[in-house]
This record gives sequence, structure tokens and C-alpha cells, in this order.
Amino acid sequence: MGREHLSSRFGVILLSAGCAVGLGNVWRFPYIAGKNGGGLFVLLYLVFLAILGLPVLIMEFAAGRAAGRPILSLHSSLTPGKPAWRLHGFAGLAGNVVLMMFYTVVAGWMLIYFVRTASGFFSPLDPSGVAAAFAGMLASPAEQIAAMVLVCAVSAAVCAMGLRRGVERVVKRLMVCLLLLIAVLAANSIWLDARDGDAAGLRFYLVPSLERMREAGFATVVAEAMNHSFFTLSLGIGAMAIFGSYIGRSRTLLGEAMNVAALDTLVSIAAGIVVIPACFAYGANPGQGPGLVFSTLPNVFNDMPYGRFWGALFFAFMSCAAMTSVIAVFETILACAMDAFSWSRPKAGAAVGAALAVLSLPCILGFSAWSGFRPFGEGSCVLDLEDFVVSNLLLPAGSLCFILYATRRFGWGWSNFLAEANSGAGPKMPGALRWYCAVVLPLIVIAVFVLGLADRFGGGG
Ligand code: PFF
Repeated sequence: MGREHLSSRFGVILLSAGCAVGLGNVWRFPYIAGKNGGGLFVLLYLVFLAILGLPVLIMEFAAGRAAGRPILSLHSSLTPGKPAWRLHGFAGLAGNVVLMMFYTVVAGWMLIYFVRTASGFFSPLDPSGVAAAFAGMLASPAEQIAAMVLVCAVSAAVCAMGLRRGVERVVKRLMVCLLLLIAVLAANSIWLDARDGDAAGLRFYLVPSLERMREAGFATVVAEAMNHSFFTLSLGIGAMAIFGSYIGRSRTLLGEAMNVAALDTLVSIAAGIVVIPACFAYGANPGQGPGLVFSTLPNVFNDMPYGRFWGALFFAFMSCAAMTSVIAVFETILACAMDAFSWSRPKAGAAVGAALAVLSLPCILGFSAWSGFRPFGEGSCVLDLEDFVVSNLLLPAGSLCFILYATRRFGWGWSNFLAEANSGAGPKMPGALRWYCAVVLPLIVIAVFVLGLADRFGGGG
């Protein structure tokens, strides 16, 4: 039986971009850019995307397209005589599952904040009331569980409907809404920043400053920029490989990967333009960390003409971005389940949706009943542990596996990879990059890995 394919090239690009564009772009990127001093961090992040993220994306796409299988059986289909590679398949599947164990929860917060903003819940509150509302939501699990279950149920239903009829149709529409929304919000933010003074927010965000980079810590800034390039492109755990397996052979993969990376970057940069100048305009600190969006932006919107409208639009946008990534990762897990157990799509959808709803409970309980569990000391919670396992361990280690697999003889090998990546029309990956890909790239990734760990455990913050 032939593998299902997407109906158009536009569908492939939007779907992969839908997986890449998510909470990483609209929630994580603005706050880590703020924390790491703006300008120079943004520049470094762009460099890492080009020299590191793009080649790994091409490798994941190529392995996925050649195998036509999800991560769990990808290696045994391409290199049946090398069983050790199957470990990467298991680690990748585990990475997708652990990612969803907190991602569905944060996606649920976005839905809750959309409803709250649209219904005028925040309008009468002062800044301390807004912060208290976020803390109150964390402390009471019922609302979060309801939102998380909704996220799991909708995503599983979309996947169960099928690749073209469900996943492609829904994600394409959400992505188009999302791109329009972010453009309108970014234009509004630039207008605010220019109106209220000297464009301080945009200058912080876009003009590099060594001074601010030194303040944030050189190693931290470099490690965060590199790690985020993996996170934002969804690399290392086979989430992109599954879309590779749905791409036909009429186009080369360099071209497709460049389109996906460009769309993803555009959304990140635009999200920063929305969030950071707004913080300057309303006297909030852009470097305050993960709570930025939830405990600050409702104040910003409260203070803005037509703020309820802009606020609802913003959280609608965040929800769309989060949902497209959840659907994409569900698709990967679903494909593994269908492949491993020969289940039908609806059956796999129901099982995966139910399992992930249960597995997401610890993250929610970590803010209330299980708040005594502090994996990294004071102030940390279950979410931090899950995020750490995915972002600092599984994504870089998985990306390293893809690089070695695609470039070394003990894996799939460079010539097989190059032939697959370059089949079709469009820009070709130059063969001369072999040395760079096989030697320099692994060294960079090992550096990310070590820097990330040293940063976490060596007192770097
Ligand atoms: N790239 C997604 C984001 O930016 O939110 C997160 C992500 C999805 C990471 C899928 C990894 C993954 F496999």
C-alpha cells in the first residue's frame, strides 16, 4: 500500500512550518531574547539557525522521505543490518511524548487566557491582580485539566480524521490565520513604540550590544541561542522526519527546508516585535522570564486602546501556534502507534489522545498537589524537569544522532543522504559540505550539549 502524501507543496511547507512554529516562537523566544539582552542574542540565534538548524532539518527530512516511516521504524527500514540505531527511534518517540506532557498544558493556558481576555476577565484588574490571577490558575488544577483535555481531544480528533482531510486541512487554515494575526499585531506594536518615544523597545530588540550580552553571561547567551535553534525547528526527535515521509520526490529538500526555516524565523522575529516594544511602552521588564506573557501582557492590553480586542487576538494567535505543533507531534506519535500495532487511524487517535491526557496530569499537579517536588531546587517544578529533559537532552542528542546517521558509514551514509536530499527540482545541497557536516557539525552539537548542561548545573543560571 502506498504511503499517504500531502495534496500540495504548499501543504507540505505549511504543515512542517506548523510543527516548527509554536510556543517556542511566540512564548519562549521573546522571553529568552529579553533575558539574554536582545540584539546580539537575536543575531546569534539567526547564525545558528543557518549553520546548524538548516542542515539538521534537511537530514531529518531526507531520512524521513527515504524511509517513508516514522522515527520508531525509520532506521530499521533504511539500515536493517544496524540494529543499534533503533535506540534513536525509541529516544525520539520518548522525546515526542515528554514534550507533549507539558506542551499540551501550556497550550491549555493559552486557551484559558484567550477566553479570559475575550470575556473581559482582566479589564478590572490592576497589575498585582493580573499576577495573582496567573498564580491562582496554577494553584487550581480543574480549569487547567479541562483545557488540557480539550487540547488533547481536538488534536487526536484532527489526526484521526486523516492526513489530508484532518491534519493538512486544519493546520493550513490555522497557519494562514496565524500569519495574518502576527502581521497585524507586529504593525500595531511598531506603531506604539514609535508613537511613545524613541523606539527604545525596537532598539533593545534589534540593535546588538556587547555590553548587554556580557551582563547576561557570554556562555549562557551562546548556549541559549544554539539550544533554541533546535527547539524552534523541532529537530532531533523525528517530528520533522514524519513530514519528510509525506513529501513527494519532485522537489529537493534544501529548498523545502529553507522555506520552513524562513517562515519559522519570520514568526519568531514578529513575536519579539509584538512583545518586547510593548513591555518598554508600558514599563514592564522584558527579561523577567517564562511568566512574561501571562503576568505582563494582560496589563499591557488593559492599558491599550481596544486592548480587549488586541489581547483576545494575541491569545488566539498563541493558541493557534500551540495547536499546530501539538497536532504535528500527535501525528508523529500516532504514526508510530499505527506502524507498531497496525492500528487504524481512529483507534490510534483515541489511544494516543487518552494516554497523553493522562501523562500531562503530573505537569498540572506539579503546581498544586505535587508542588513539594522541586527537581532543580527552590522555585522549580515538574514542567521544568520535563522541559529540561526535552530541550537540553533529547533534542541536542537526537540531532547529533541524525547528523552521524546521515554522514557516517556506520549509519545511513553521506552518499545515500545526498542522493535523497538532492532528488527533485530546486536548489541542491553541495557535496563539498561533507567534511563540514560530518566533522564540524557534530562538534558544534556536542558543544551545545555540554554548554547547556554546564549552564544548568555549573551555577550559570
Ligand atoms: N518547534 C516547536 C515550537 O517552537 O514550539 C516545539 C517542538 C515541536 C519541539 C516538536 C520539538 C518537536 F519535536
